[in-house]
Amino acid sequence: MLSKERMPGHVAVIMDGNGRWAKEKGLPRLAGHNAGMKAMKKIVDHSDKLGIKYLTVYAFSTENWKRSMDEVSGIFKLLVTYVNSDLKGLIDNNVKVKILGDYSALPKDAIKSLEKTLTATADNTGLQFNIALNYGGRDELRKAVIAVGEKVKRGELAPEEITEEIIAEHLYTGSLGADVPDPELIIRTSGELRLSNFLLWQSAYSELVFPEVMWPDFTPEEYEKAIADYQSRERRFGGR
Ligand code: IPE
Ligand code: IPE
Ligand code: MG
Repeated sequence: MLSKERMPGHVAVIMDGNGRWAKEKGLPRLAGHNAGMKAMKKIVDHSDKLGIKYLTVYAFSTENWKRSMDEVSGIFKLLVTYVNSDLKGLIDNNVKVKILGDYSALPKDAIKSLEKTLTATADNTGLQFNIALNYGGRDELRKAVIAVGEKVKRGELAPEEITEEIIAEHLYTGSLGADVPDPELIIRTSGELRLSNFLLWQSAYSELVFPEVMWPDFTPEEYEKAIADYQSRERRFGGR
C-alpha cells in the first residue's frame, strides 16, 4: 500500500528501452516508440490518480539527434499524433502541459501541435505534465550561465551575488514556477543505471529507482512499485 503522506510531489521519468522492446518482438524501432507513447499516456493518468502534482518525462535528448533521420522524424510524428489525439483527454483531466528544452528545433508541425496544447491547457490546475524535448542538462546549464552573465554585464548583478536560487531560476525548470520542487524521485526504465544528461542540477538529492522493464512495459502497477521503493528510503540530505 502506498502512503498518501509520503507521495512524491514531483516524479521525473527517463522513458528508456523502446528500441529494445521492439527488437525483442522482431518489430521496427518506431513500433517501440509508438508503444512507449501509449505507456506514457497511462502514467500521466495514473500520476493524477495518485495525487502527484508534477510529472516530468524525458522524451528526446539533445544527443538523440545522432539517431537516423527516419527514427528522429518518426518520433516527432508520433508525438504530434499523441498530443493531437490526447488534447481533449488532457483538458478533461485538468492537466497542464509544459515543455522543457529548446523545442524551436523541432519540425514545424510538431511545434504547432505542441503550442496548441500549451495554450489550451495553460489555465488548468491539476497535474502539471512537463515534457523534456530537445532537452539536455548541460545545455540547460550553459543557457543559464549565458543569461546570468548577461545580467552581470548589464550591471544588474555582481558575480558574488549569484546564488543557487538565481541559477535555478534561469534553468528551463525555472520557467515552471518557483514553487515546483526538484524531483524527489527519478525513475529510469530498461535497467540502464545512468542519468544521460537529464536534470543534472535538479537531481542533486533525488532518489533514483531503476526498474528492469522496458518503457512500453512500464504499467501503472510497475509505477506503484517504484513509488513504494521510494517510500521505503530514508532521505538525509547530508544530515544524519
Ligand atoms: C527511449 O527508448 C526513447 C528515446 C530515447 C527517444 P530508446 O529508443 O532509447 O530505446 P533503447 O534504449 O534503444 O532500447
Ligand atoms: C535517454 O535515453 C533519453 C531519453 C529517454 C529521451 P538514451 O537511450 O538516449 O540514453 P543512452 O544513450 O542509453 O545513455
Ligand atoms: Mg535508450
